[in-house]
Amino acid sequence: PLGCPAGTALLPLSLSLCLLLAASFARDAAPESCNCSQPLDFEAFRAAPLAESCCLNFSSSNVSLLDWGALLGVRGLRELDLSRCGIAAIRNAQGVPVTLEVLHLSHNQLESLPGGFLEDAPNLRILYLDWNRLRELPQSFLKASRRLQEVYLGYNALTFLPSSLLQPSLQRLQVSNNSWDCSCALLSALQGRPDLATELTCHTPQRHRGAELLSIPRDELCRSHGLTALFICLPPLLLLATIACCFCKRKRKTNYSFGGRRPPVAAARRRGEGQRAGAPRIPPLRPLRAARCPLREGEEGAAGGGGAAPALPGPSGEQQGPVRGGGDPGGIPGAAP
Ligand SMILES: *[C@@H]1O[C@H](CO)[C@@H](O)[C@H](O)[C@H]1NC(C)=O
Ligand SMILES: *[C@@H]1O[C@H](CO)[C@@H](O)[C@H](O)[C@H]1NC(C)=O
Ligand SMILES: *[C@@H]1O[C@H](CO)[C@@H](O)[C@H](O)[C@H]1NC(C)=O
Ligand SMILES: *[C@@H]1O[C@H](CO)[C@@H](O)[C@H](O)[C@H]1NC(C)=O
Repeated sequence: PLGCPAGTALLPLSLSLCLLLAASFARDAAPESCNCSQPLDFEAFRAAPLAESCCLNFSSSNVSLLDWGALLGVRGLRELDLSRCGIAAIRNAQGVPVTLEVLHLSHNQLESLPGGFLEDAPNLRILYLDWNRLRELPQSFLKASRRLQEVYLGYNALTFLPSSLLQPSLQRLQVSNNSWDCSCALLSALQGRPDLATELTCHTPQRHRGAELLSIPRDELCRSHGLTALFICLPPLLLLATIACCFCKRKRKTNYSFGGRRPPVAAARRRGEGQRAGAPRIPPLRPLRAARCPLREGEEGAAGGGGAAPALPGPSGEQQGPVRGGGDPGGIPGAAP
């Protein structure tokens, strides 16, 4: 009504002025019209879903099991407030309202998120997940959120951070008050964006508890990781070696009972004809025994260490045949005490 006089000469000018005014008014009005202060009850919404809304505020509704699928049909949804709803689990978690920019899930009872949740949320800018009980995040979490600016993960029980959420656009990452496991893997996951991990305090391992991840030298985290692996691997290795030793000792005793048979076999092999006739019976036993008990080679032969390598089946084994056959009787007195 302000700029629309009925003057005929001014008509085209005033018309364009009107259009301009209307356009600028609409542009300013759009964000303001998204009034999110009115809380909605989630159950009431599920009974009568809205077809279009730029914001839904379910804050403080009673939702224990969130039916995420019920929200996917809302056109133009930019902001969704689901904080303080007592949410313990999310079902129908695939997909996201494509226009969604801000999601509030703070102050709930979430212990985990379903796989694929928010994996493909291209317009998400701000995500609040603080004050839950999250122990881990899905593998490809926020993988497609190229416009991500702020993620709040504080006051959870997280031990590890998937690198998929460390988008180049990310400016603020809240990670305080969690159960971070300061490992080489966590440090590596943050390698691209160490600036975001300034408040990441270690919970485990015990020797780093309370320390800032970034204050620990990389060498220490990654080397100690290798040492830990060694300490875990060492006992089974020792056990294996002991078992192998016992096995060899026992095998050695068994060998003596075969002692009488061996020279004829060796002789047959030397002739080259025994390979066809005698092969299925005794020859496979000889190379196997020789390979498993290199110690025996060292004990017997004066050659010592050199004898261990060529003890495998092959031409050298055939050459050693007669030598071993002759050495065996001499070996018995040495091994008996
Ligand atoms: C939003 O709506 C509520 C009630 O519906 C009203 O009291 C409040 O002033 C509105 N806020 C804005 C910014 O328009
Ligand atoms: C939703 O409503 C609550 C309580 O009325 C209010 O504190 C909160 O700021 C609202 N959420 C948004 C995103 O405006
Ligand atoms: C949620 O439930 C609690 C107790 O069960 C009740 O006090 C509260 O008013 C409920 N809130 C809503 C929004 O229905
Ligand atoms: C959060 O962490 C800080 C520093 O570690 C600690 O002083 C504070 O008590 C923690 N707060 C909660 C609520 O756990």
